[in-house]
Amino acid sequence: GRVAVLMGGTSSEREVSLDSGRNVLAALQARGIDAHAVDGVPALIEAIRAGRVDRVFNVLHGSHGGGEDGVLQGLLDALGVPYTGSGVLGSALSMDKIRTKQVWLALGLRTPRYVRLAPGDDVHAAARELGLPVIVKPACEGSSVGVSRVFDDADLDEAMALAARYPGELLMEQLIETDGADAGEYTVGILGDAALPSIRIVPAGAYYDYHAKYVAEDTTYLCPGLDGAAEASMRELALAAFRAAGCSGWGRVDIMRDRDGRDWLLEVNTAPGMTSHSLVPKAARAVGIGFEDLCWAVLETALT
Ligand code: DAL
Ligand code: MG
Repeated sequence: GRVAVLMGGTSSEREVSLDSGRNVLAALQARGIDAHAVDGVPALIEAIRAGRVDRVFNVLHGSHGGGEDGVLQGLLDALGVPYTGSGVLGSALSMDKIRTKQVWLALGLRTPRYVRLAPGDDVHAAARELGLPVIVKPACEGSSVGVSRVFDDADLDEAMALAARYPGELLMEQLIETDGADAGEYTVGILGDAALPSIRIVPAGAYYDYHAKYVAEDTTYLCPGLDGAAEASMRELALAAFRAAGCSGWGRVDIMRDRDGRDWLLEVNTAPGMTSHSLVPKAARAVGIGFEDLCWAVLETALT
């Protein structure tokens, strides 16, 4: 049947989503699938009413005009249109980094200590509670939009002001120090019921920010990121975190590994990037799943 590749929208990740969407569309069409692009949820509703959609491949990243926060999923459930990725609960929960952490903590899964902030709250008191350095970020955005690392009390207000430009609550999180042998930023893609090999991300600059994610060509990706028992345990943690958040189909779990070899869960992405720089395609390739096969495998999760 006809596949709507849902992309674009009005979230802060619009451009990333258009990039993901074009790649997915081309891959599905190359496989002979009758697929077409749809930009944003209102256009999808129209296409469904016009009878042009049998299922949805969702790469509409983000919340607030994105398709990653459960709103789209509820709509499609109500209309009986199958879609890729997590359902209402997993999508809504994972979009909210604070509530996701609360679930993980309740289950004994390790995630950095945090303070929930609303605009106007005392950011200095929060930083004293956690101890510098910290990360300040909007609770419900993606792609590092609105994120600051703060090492100095004097920079807290600016970090808060930046994060507060986005809707919803703010999150201040303990910064995991990543100097050490295999310490650093990792991610684990999930495809169906299995974890893909971890990727260790080594940005050329200090951080894996928006620029390092989508623009720079000098970020190094190691896949698998770890060996032996450490790799197995990171994959197991990612799967446990994914399931705890009520997620299904496919996704990506972001993790920090500290200098003592402890893994700390950051968040789950339920409609992960599919750009040429993105991570799930890299992890899939490492186990012999090319981009077209990956898109097909994700689409298959929406066939039932
Ligand atoms: N939020 C971006 C698209 C990602 O997680 O890949
Ligand atoms: Mg994210």
